[in-house]
Amino acid sequence: MSKKPLILGIESSCDETAASLITENELGFPVILSNIISSQENIHKKFGGVVPELAARSHIEKIDWIVQKAISESGKKIEEIDAVASTAGPGLVVCLSVGLSFGKAFASAINKPFIAINHLEGHALSPKLNFKIDYPYLLLLISGGHSQYLNVKNLGEYKRLGTTIDDALGEAFDKTAKLLGIEYPGGPQIEKLAEKGNPKKFDLPKPIFNKGGCNLSFAGLKTAVLKITKTIKSEQDKFDLAASFQKTVEEILKKKTIIAFDQFEKQNISQEKIFVVAGGVAANKKIRTMLVKVCEKNNYKSLFPPIELCGDNAAMIAMVGLEKFKLNQLNHFDHPAKPRWPLDENALFLKGAGVQL
Ligand code: KG4
Ligand code: ZN
Repeated sequence: MSKKPLILGIESSCDETAASLITENELGFPVILSNIISSQENIHKKFGGVVPELAARSHIEKIDWIVQKAISESGKKIEEIDAVASTAGPGLVVCLSVGLSFGKAFASAINKPFIAINHLEGHALSPKLNFKIDYPYLLLLISGGHSQYLNVKNLGEYKRLGTTIDDALGEAFDKTAKLLGIEYPGGPQIEKLAEKGNPKKFDLPKPIFNKGGCNLSFAGLKTAVLKITKTIKSEQDKFDLAASFQKTVEEILKKKTIIAFDQFEKQNISQEKIFVVAGGVAANKKIRTMLVKVCEKNNYKSLFPPIELCGDNAAMIAMVGLEKFKLNQLNHFDHPAKPRWPLDENALFLKGAGVQL
């Protein structure tokens, strides 16, 4: 029986310091041996968002023991590790540099290969930690920094179908929360407040709802929320605004997902149509329920990573590392941090004033 690869994954692109060891079983499915995540929520909550300098400092303080903990919890020895995979982008450059430099130094010290991972590829393939999925599949990636529909054709082969032209969905949740006086990250709190509110109370805009294919836009929604927060008086108003925001987001995603289905089908003739939702916002239960229904109606199989693997983690980074290691897709130690690193390098940059849809 040949030795199965053992990969150390490291993640530090934003406000989570994380390390994980994974291997695979006899059937070739990934097996998580340890998955350590240290969140910096307490550091950033009073600022309403991530403060890069503070985030980088915290990564530097924690990376050493997080990696040690991941190794000791895995029950494996350092000598057994076959390769080290670190997130190299996209993300905050000062944060990326910590995990990237640590990973390179670690790999060099144990004389094993180094693999640079795209954080978005980690999210894109994260459901493979729990499900056997064949390519191609349609992916909705909704996180704090990204909102995209992608045709996942193969490892490293992505075709973007739609993207946000301004704010990411997680960012819109966080900004709305901040306006309602909720600490960062506000997404999960908005979901909770929404349960107590009337979703029909406030009529919020749905930017580019009837144009722009499956591209998305959330900035106008945030501006409308800002105007309303100036007029609200009671706690119930807050609940109603959270509920109206949650409902509006669901309506936008419902319509845009159906458009994405159509575009995906034009690009692929696959027997089974699979729709994967990943990234931090995929933890939102109401969004999940709505998307499951949309899939049922349109003959798609829906797949979501378990809640604990929706947000940033190193298991997804190690898993992409494992796939790349098996294909001998290794990197040199001079691989740079890439703050901007799109999955589909050929897709047009669609952000800022004057974007043509
Ligand atoms: O994927 P992630 O952990 O980090 C990035 O790569 O950005 O996503 C974090 C984002 C935050 O904006 C957070 O508010 C949002 O995911 N989020 C949620 C929920 N849980 C996390 N948004 C809405 N509902 C939730 N339950
Ligand atoms: Zn992420």
